[in-house]
Amino acid sequence: MKIVVIGGSGLIGSKLVNKLRERGHEAVAASPKSGVDTLTGEGLAEVLKGASVVVDVSNSPSWEDADVMKFFETSTRNLITYGTAAGVGHLVALSVVGSERLLESGYFRAKIAQENLIKGSSLPYSIVRATQFFEFVKGIADFSTKGNEVHLSTALIQPIAADDVASAVGEVAEGSPVNGTVEVGGPEQFGLDELVRRGLAARKDPREVVADRKRVLIDRPVHVPAGICDVRGTVGTALEVDRREPEPVLRPGQRDEDRPDGRPVRQGRQGQ
Ligand SMILES: NC(=O)c1ccc[n+]([C@@H]2O[C@H](COP(=O)([O-])OP(=O)(O)OC[C@H]3O[C@@H](n4cnc5c(N)ncnc54)[C@H](OP(=O)(O)O)[C@@H]3O)[C@@H](O)[C@H]2O)c1
Repeated sequence: MKIVVIGGSGLIGSKLVNKLRERGHEAVAASPKSGVDTLTGEGLAEVLKGASVVVDVSNSPSWEDADVMKFFETSTRNLITYGTAAGVGHLVALSVVGSERLLESGYFRAKIAQENLIKGSSLPYSIVRATQFFEFVKGIADFSTKGNEVHLSTALIQPIAADDVASAVGEVAEGSPVNGTVEVGGPEQFGLDELVRRGLAARKDPREVVADRKRVLIDRPVHVPAGICDVRGTVGTALEVDRREPEPVLRPGQRDEDRPDGRPVRQGRQGQ
């Protein structure tokens, strides 16, 4: 099946393209790097020709309120227009668990706008919502650092490894449209401060984590309520995941053994 992955060069996209190719699909990585721009529409008609499914795992290069809203609104409208014209039978998009509880943030307002455009379109769709990626936790630590201190909320999060997110999105893309939302999260909840404290200690990073209840964005719990989500991965994955090398994208037809680094594609999915 031809599956076009918008954002196929990104963290989730590159893993997803590899997984879909491993399963025998014609997975096409589409992004500005390969001449496909969902903001302008450039290359969309060509890449979507003959596609059964389009998966959107793109992200805005700028997280300024106006930029991110323009990105998700314009690119989603373009995907719907071009996807409908090409006769695509399934639009899959990756969003974030708890976005509706974080509307102080322009980023999450834009994700809700993206979801609403998809729900209001005539294309059969599936929205996959994931909790925070473990890979994103180090970035949260870095942009919350003041001097030698990392100021973080104590809000509970339920992080998931990017590899597990890519697997979940791939499974949804292979299936029938759910015309609804599927949520995935990691196996365990942590206070954000505690998770980063453990991660920094594991890396012997000397920064001190300070619990800060005034943090606006992450003062609310962003976790998947027990019992409604597909839980994946392990805590072991959590502490090791940000030490991994970036995933090389396999060429069509390439298998694990052809990878330049010789590492297996599937890793870190213990406990399933
Ligand atoms: N971070 C989290 O914890 C989290 C949690 C749940 C869900 N999500 C969602 O997961 C999705 C993917 O995140 P990620 O971290 O994998 O993203 P990422 O690594 O930052 O990759 C972004 C991708 O978007 C592409 N892109 C940028 N501008 C584009 C355009 N105009 N047209 C088409 N493609 C464009 C980039 O292409 P180039 O490489 O060519 O520039 C790249 O492939 C996002 O929608 C995010 O909201 C994130």
